[in-house]
Amino acid sequence: MENIRGKTALLTGGSRGLGVHIAGFLAKEGVNLALTARSEEGLKTTADEVSRENVKVKIYPADITDQASREKLIKDVKADFGQIDLLINNAGMEWVYSYAALTTDFIEKMIQTNLISPMLLTRMVLPDMLARGSGHIVTMSSIAGKRGNPYGGIYCATKAGLIEWSNGLRLELSGSGVGVSVICPGFVAESGMFAVYNKKAPKIAGETTPAKVANAVIKAIKKDIGETPVIPGPSWILPVLDAIHPCLANWLLRIGGVYEFYRKQAEDNEKKVAESQGNKEKVNG
Ligand SMILES: NC(=O)c1ccc[n+]([C@@H]2O[C@H](COP(=O)([O-])OP(=O)(O)OC[C@H]3O[C@@H](n4cnc5c(N)ncnc54)[C@H](OP(=O)(O)O)[C@@H]3O)[C@@H](O)[C@H]2O)c1
Repeated sequence: MENIRGKTALLTGGSRGLGVHIAGFLAKEGVNLALTARSEEGLKTTADEVSRENVKVKIYPADITDQASREKLIKDVKADFGQIDLLINNAGMEWVYSYAALTTDFIEKMIQTNLISPMLLTRMVLPDMLARGSGHIVTMSSIAGKRGNPYGGIYCATKAGLIEWSNGLRLELSGSGVGVSVICPGFVAESGMFAVYNKKAPKIAGETTPAKVANAVIKAIKKDIGETPVIPGPSWILPVLDAIHPCLANWLLRIGGVYEFYRKQAEDNEKKVAESQGNKEKVNG
């Protein structure tokens, strides 16, 4: 879709992190914005920032894992904007932790948030896009969807699922006027779920920026690009090594410090949880 000025985008995960940058880049391109996330306060801050660009911006606080909320969201956005031209499935969650210590509820919540919600939101906007013969779906995956990380298997599984779902849907819809793109960033510095750790990414992986990710979203829509990796370091070689033999990718993750990075992060997270549980017991007891 070469000309996106005046179109309407529904952007999930608009309250913080990469969503704020994606909203800014879309607004600069003259795209009207329907921003959603759970935090009303975060959405208001993003809306204030992007409304300088003279586009229509409205916020829709909602939990995208809830079907009734998803239905209300789509209905409200259509009532306010008339139609949804672009859906940016950006919301997501990550948690670096020992797999055996995760609860069933937590595992289900992550799969709902990262994988099922984007699939179902897309299913809800697609019939109108197909009827108009125009639209674009962009989904935020990750380089983690290309190779499983230790202490993050569920996250990686959801991101891998998004890549192959997007690839399949793109082929299915080719010629329909509706484009499908998937973005695969590596570690993103400055803001977002990795930046909150306040740590340097392993050298082999390198770090990218929110601006590069947001730019990839715009380019994917305008040039109708299927899959875009946004990775600065030599980790692009991982899928190549994986295709030769999985042992090679595992070897690189170990010697490149990626395994150790996640092991240490899981240890830190588990310590924090244990401390907060200890504090709760102190307060209650
Ligand atoms: N940052 C990175 O290094 C990186 C790398 C690769 C891929 N990614 C992907 O990029 C996307 C954005 O990540 P980020 O770094 O910006 O993460 P973030 O800072 O943690 O922001 C996540 C966003 O998702 C929203 N969200 C989470 N659960 C939700 C729910 N149940 N309902 C509605 N909204 C929900 C959050 O809003 P509320 O909490 O207000 O609901 C927030 O706006 C994610 O899909 C992530 O997997 C990030």
